Amino acid sequence: MTKIISFESSADETSVAIVEDGHIILSNAVATQINSHQRFGGIVPEVASRHHIEWITRVLDDALQQANVKPSELDAVAVTYGPGLVGSLLVGLMGAKTFALAHNLPIIPVNHLAGHIAAANFNEPIIYPALALMVSGGHTELVLMKTENSFVVLGETRDDAAGESFDKVGRLLKLPYPAGKTIDEMAHKGQATIKFPTAMAHEDNYDFSFSGLKSAVINYVHHAEQKGETIDHNNLATSFQNAVVDALVGRTQRALSDFPVKSFVVAGGVAANSQLRQTLAELLEKDAFAAIKFIPVPRQYTGDNAAMIGAAGYWNYKQGHFAGLDLNTAPGLDFDLLEQN
Ligand code: KG4
Ligand code: ZN
Repeated sequence: MTKIISFESSADETSVAIVEDGHIILSNAVATQINSHQRFGGIVPEVASRHHIEWITRVLDDALQQANVKPSELDAVAVTYGPGLVGSLLVGLMGAKTFALAHNLPIIPVNHLAGHIAAANFNEPIIYPALALMVSGGHTELVLMKTENSFVVLGETRDDAAGESFDKVGRLLKLPYPAGKTIDEMAHKGQATIKFPTAMAHEDNYDFSFSGLKSAVINYVHHAEQKGETIDHNNLATSFQNAVVDALVGRTQRALSDFPVKSFVVAGGVAANSQLRQTLAELLEKDAFAAIKFIPVPRQYTGDNAAMIGAAGYWNYKQGHFAGLDLNTAPGLDFDLLEQN
């Protein structure tokens, strides 16, 4: 039995978790700063770092207490070193290094995006080769995993991330940040009365683009304002969300047709979206894909949390992939792109 303590602080959540064998969550303490950033309509990096500093030791104590585990029973310390905000990452990294030094434990460097994907193992074990749709506030990627802990990006967004487009439309509608969950709820109550463009449906690749859709929504709202018309925000939410889900599912379908995989994972904050989960489940029920196992990340682990870092950390642990106390942050860290020939 391998017990890993993990630290996550790449954005506005301070989190420490203890995970056994990569999939049994003994504790997952999360402190969110959303209330502090809401009045600014987004994350303010300096404010985020300060909050991480204030919270990290309390969250660490909570994680140890909830799991009822002593430091001497731990095998390693996993930590997110990128991608993310440099000031935020540094706090988690310092916390992890200090804990590792104090308790003589090895350090495992973890890519935050790998963490999001590894959280599928909290649902059931990923079967390889696997495809993952990674959709968060900063990333939108289709990732091929030929084997455990190997990642190749088939396609990614050329402009806004999927979550970012939800948050920008939310800002336009004066919804609190982050707006994804609220728009998801509003979309349930509305009708798809507005036809927005589905991004890049005809291009021969696996890339995404959401800025055209965002502009179409902005133009629609401004146009209505100029004419003094009132907009049904729920209908707008439904129509916008349909366009995002169409784009995500369309590209996924193409990738699943081209790459024979055994399982399909949807991960990242936007993977909490009910329409996205539902539409992907329906896609995977089609005859052509019926042999592929659909493994969505459990909804409560789609957003940033340290348990997912413990899950991905276990992959590195098994492969002997450790770091020294000189481990630094990598704010722009990403997976490699598929080599085009
Ligand atoms: O993965 P995450 O927690 O943080 C990043 O690594 O970016 O993702 C946060 C993003 C935000 O943009 C938020 O609006 C979006 O996930 N999100 C959602 C939903 N819940 C969170 N988007 C659509 N539908 C949701 N239910
Ligand atoms: Zn994230």
